[in-house]
Amino acid sequence: MAEVIIVKNQEEAGELYGRSVADLIKAKPNAVLGLATGSSPLAAYQALAKIVEEESIDVSQVQGFALDEYIGLPLTHPESYHATIHRTVVEPLGLDPAKVHVPGDVLNGTSLEDGEKVAGAGAAYDAAIEAAGGIDVQILGIGTDGHVGFNEPGSSLASGTRVKTLTERTRIDNARFFDNDINQVPTHCITQGIGTIMKARHLVLLAFGAGKAEAVAETVEGGISSFCPASALQMHPHATIIVDEEAASRLRNKDYYRYSFEHKPAWQTICPHVVPVPFVGTGTTALHLKEGNMTETREQVVARVTAAVEGAADGAFGFDRPNPVTDAPLGLVAPGRAADLLIADPGTLAVKHVWCAGRRVS
Ligand code: F6R
Repeated sequence: MAEVIIVKNQEEAGELYGRSVADLIKAKPNAVLGLATGSSPLAAYQALAKIVEEESIDVSQVQGFALDEYIGLPLTHPESYHATIHRTVVEPLGLDPAKVHVPGDVLNGTSLEDGEKVAGAGAAYDAAIEAAGGIDVQILGIGTDGHVGFNEPGSSLASGTRVKTLTERTRIDNARFFDNDINQVPTHCITQGIGTIMKARHLVLLAFGAGKAEAVAETVEGGISSFCPASALQMHPHATIIVDEEAASRLRNKDYYRYSFEHKPAWQTICPHVVPVPFVGTGTTALHLKEGNMTETREQVVARVTAAVEGAADGAFGFDRPNPVTDAPLGLVAPGRAADLLIADPGTLAVKHVWCAGRRVS
């Protein structure tokens, strides 16, 4: 079950996304962002750009992969998704353009009929995502017909990136970007598949307005079906669906979604980024942090470990060795994150235990 958050407006949704992604980038400077075009994510990108600027976050290593692109439009066309992603994301955030990719980049206006070029582009794109380490957080809009990316109804829920035919519904919806002339809207696209999207570690789907209400209800509370490709999100271990009141209007369980968001524990952000962090403890403080010795409050632990790390010059702490006492490298996550402390496996750095608010939660 995805988490459903009902917000007042797009700005509030944008702030949730912006905060979450900003924290991700701080924890993982080479984070891989999955990007979408369309109107739904615009406030989210603006919110993120504002936080990046205000908090002087270094985004030089951030990588990006867009969901989809029209076939047949040159990259320079103002409505190509290449141009749109660069205008709405790369420039406002100050990302390195060379690190941001759109599925049609290699096509650049290539005709649909050029099978040799067009057919291989999807698999190459999926391989590039894998090579970058996979997508950390994928932002999604949803079509009125339940599409995500351009996976139209009937799309395989296991699909990889490939060429698809746009439905007439989608072409009518998108004609607003082409002088309201459906004839200017391309008939085909290349899109990340549902299988590709499902590999992202966190999905954030945004939907606003009454026009999305039916698709949102199908996605969240309908059966899982390729008839509503977004319903595959029900199978994702970490999906967040952020909607305004109008888009939520057809949800049967909305009181519960509201209640559970209001009662969410403070430590549980929408995106708890539990990632291996640098070793901090090899000395006496590590002794206190041994499993079974966590009697302090979250604030006390965080304050003590932070102070100890800052005092590393006294030789009590090292940054490059596993803890000789517990035989486990110790990671500290900044206060305010979902996890305060991580104990990772010394060999693989896989997270073994996580403490939140002074108690072990996994
Ligand atoms: C865009 C995309 C599409 C849109 C969807 C909603 O990259 O993949 O799935 O997210 O068509 O569009 P908007 O947000 O304009 O309502």
